[in-house]
Amino acid sequence: MLNNFFNPASIAVVGASRTPGKVGYDILNNIIRYGYRGMVYPINPGSPEILNKKAYPSLIDVPDKIDLAIIVVPSKNVLEVVEQCGSKNIDSAIIITAGFKESGIEGARLEAELIRTAKKAGLRFIGPNCLGMIDTHSKVNASFAAGMPAKGGIGFFSQSGALCLAVLDRALPDEIGFSKFISMGNKADITDTDIMLALAEDENTKVILGYIEGVGDGCKFMEVAKEVTKKKPIIILKSGITSSGAKAASSHTGALAGREAAFDAAFRQSGVIRAHTINELFNYALAFANQPLPHGPNVAIITNSGGPGILAADACDKSDLKLAPPNKEVVDELRTFLPAAASFYNPIDILGDAGADRYEKALTAVLKDEKMNGIIVLLTPTAVVDVDETAMAVINVAGNIDRPVLTSFMGKQRVESGTKNLLRYNVPNYSYPEEAVSSLNAMYRYKAWIDRPEKTYPQLDDFKVKAKHIFEKAAEENRERLSDSEVHDVLMSYGFRVPRSLFARTSEEAVAAAKGIGYPVVMKIVSPQVIHKSDMGGVKVGLESKKAVENAFFDITTRVRNIMPAAQIYGVMVQEMVRGGKEVIMGITKDPQFGHMIMFGLGGIYVEVLKDIAFRITPLSREDAHEMIRETKTFPLLRGVRGEAEADIEAIEESLLILSRMAMDFPQIIEADINPLLVKKRGEGAVAVDARFSIGGE
Ligand code: COA
Repeated sequence: MLNNFFNPASIAVVGASRTPGKVGYDILNNIIRYGYRGMVYPINPGSPEILNKKAYPSLIDVPDKIDLAIIVVPSKNVLEVVEQCGSKNIDSAIIITAGFKESGIEGARLEAELIRTAKKAGLRFIGPNCLGMIDTHSKVNASFAAGMPAKGGIGFFSQSGALCLAVLDRALPDEIGFSKFISMGNKADITDTDIMLALAEDENTKVILGYIEGVGDGCKFMEVAKEVTKKKPIIILKSGITSSGAKAASSHTGALAGREAAFDAAFRQSGVIRAHTINELFNYALAFANQPLPHGPNVAIITNSGGPGILAADACDKSDLKLAPPNKEVVDELRTFLPAAASFYNPIDILGDAGADRYEKALTAVLKDEKMNGIIVLLTPTAVVDVDETAMAVINVAGNIDRPVLTSFMGKQRVESGTKNLLRYNVPNYSYPEEAVSSLNAMYRYKAWIDRPEKTYPQLDDFKVKAKHIFEKAAEENRERLSDSEVHDVLMSYGFRVPRSLFARTSEEAVAAAKGIGYPVVMKIVSPQVIHKSDMGGVKVGLESKKAVENAFFDITTRVRNIMPAAQIYGVMVQEMVRGGKEVIMGITKDPQFGHMIMFGLGGIYVEVLKDIAFRITPLSREDAHEMIRETKTFPLLRGVRGEAEADIEAIEESLLILSRMAMDFPQIIEADINPLLVKKRGEGAVAVDARFSIGGE
C-alpha cells in the first residue's frame, strides 16, 4: 500500500532548483545525499544539469518510468504539473508547495481544483503544504528537513511540518530510530487513515506515531484505528481546540461535551493511546518501539535511593500498574547479597552505595518472580556508582527476557553516555521516574486493549416505531424542541420509567389530578416558550394537600405571566413526586466529526461544576456502558457509602444503551438530557424525572 511513496524505483523532483537554500534544491540534495539508490530526475526548464544529475525541462521529457513525483513548483504551476503526471502515468506525488487551503478562500478554491485534477489524472498525493517524506529503510529523504533520522521502528505522521522538524531534531542526537516520517500538510488527498493503514502493513514499523489537529471523517478514523490498533500501537498527540460552540449549547450534555471529549472517547473506543505533550509522545514511542509488552499490571521498582523510589511508587498508585511485593524466595535471595539496611519489598532499595554488580544481581533475582510483569530500574548518580557499567548490567539482563525493562537514570552529564548505550540496546531511559511509570502504564493498557474480547452490542426491542410520529410531527411544525408531553411519550416508548403525570388546565383539574396520582405531587408549568422552568419559578415540589396544589397553580401561572408576558400558558403538569435514590444525568450530544455521543455523570444540579462525566461515541457496547459509569470519580457513591444501599447500576447501564439506540434511531436529535435520572436501590430500577430534547437537521 502506497508503495510508490515509500519504496519508489525512481523519483522526479519537479521544481528542482540550482540555487542552494531553495526548497527545490534542498529536497533534491537530501534525496541524493542520504543514499537513495533509485533513479533521480531533476525537472527544471532552465537548467540541463543540477547536482550532477541530468535535468529535464518537464516531466513529459523524461524518457523513463517515474514512480514518485515531488512537486515543488510555485502554486500557480502545480495543476499543470499534476496534469503532466497524468500524461506520464505517474500515480504518486508529494506536493510540497504552500498557498492552498491554509492561505484563505483563493487557496481553498485552488485546492478543490487540485483535488479534481489529481483525480482525473489518477494521481494520489500527500500534501499540499507539506515538508515531504522520509523512509529510512529505502533511504528516501524526499523532504527539506535538515537531517536523516536513524533506522528504527517508529513510523511518524504529522499534520504540522514544524512539529516534524522538532521531532526530528529531538531524535537526531539520541539516534532514535524511525521507519518513516511523513509530513501530511493539508491532507487534501491522502489522509491520516490512509497512512495508518499503510504503516500497519509496513513490516519496518513497530509503532505508529501521529500528530493531528483534527480528522476529516470521524467514523472512518475510528473504524481504521480500531482495526490497526489490534495489530500495532497508535500513539497520537492531538492539539486541543477550545470550543466556543460548546458554550452556546442549550443542554448540560452539550455544554459539558466540548470537542476534546469526542476525541478522548474516539481514541479510547478505538484503542488509540493519547499523548498530551511532545515529550509524552516520545516517551511512549520509545517504550513501545524497544520493549515487549507487559502481560499484566505487576511492576517491580529497583532503586539506589529512597526519594525517586517513592515518586515512582506514587505514580504507580495513580496508574493501572500494581507494586506487587516480591515472593519469599526472591526476598530470601535478595537478603543474601544486599546490606541489612536495604529495602527488600517493592520499591526494592539497594542503597546509595550500590554498584553495577548489585544492580545486576537484584534485577536477576527479581525477575525470578514470575508475577512481575515489568521492571523499572532507577539510578541516582552517586559518587560510587559506575553509570556505564550499570547500564551494561541492565542491558545484559533486559536483552534476555521477554518482559519490559525501562530505566530512569536521573540527571544529565554523569548519566549521558550510559543512557545513550541503554537506548542503543533497546532499553529506553527516562529523565524522571514518573515518565517511566506512565510509559509502562501505556504499554499495559494497550496490552489490555489487544487482549480484550470483542465488544458486545445489545439486542434491543424496536422502540423506534412508537416514537417516530412524535419526531415527525415536531419536524413538520419546524420545532427545535419536543414538548414535555412528547418527551414523556418518547421516554415511555423507549421503556424508561417516568413519573405518573396528568395535564391540568385549571386549578380544579390540578386538584383532581393530584388526588388521582396521590400526594405529595410536583407541579410544572406547561408553556412552549418556557424552557428553563425552574429558573422562571415554574416548578413546585412537595405539594402535600389540596390547598397547596391550588396555591401552587396560582403562584406558578402568575409568576411565569409576570416574567414572560408573551408566553402561552397551556396549564400545568401534575406529577408523582419521586423520592429517594441517587441523581444521575445522562444525555445525547452531537459532535461534528464523530456524530452522536452519550454522556453520563453524577452530581445532580452540581454536574456542570463537578464535571465528573464520561462520554462515549455511539453505538455504545455493553462494555462501554459498564466502563463509563465506573470512570467517574463519584462512582463509589453509587456503590453506597457508610451503609447506604447500592444503587441499581445495571439500570443505569441499560438506560445508557437505550439512549444510544435512541440516538442511532433519530439522527435529528441534536441534544438531549435526562436530568435527573433517579436511580433506586439495586433491582428497583430508575425513573427519568425530567428530560429535554433538542432536534433539527439530520
Ligand atoms: N516545472 C519545473 N520547474 C519549475 C517550474 C515548472 N513548471 N516552475 C518553476 N520551476 C523551477 C524554477 O525555475 C526554480 O528553479 P531555479 O531556482 O533553478 O530557477 C524552481 O523551480 C523553484 O521555483 P521558484 O519560482 O524559484 O520558486 P521558489 O523556490 O521560490 O518557491 C515553493 C517554490 C514551492 C518552495 C514555494 O512556492 C512554496 O510553496 N514555499 C513554501 C513551502 C512550504 O513551506 N511548505 C510547507 C512546509 S510545512
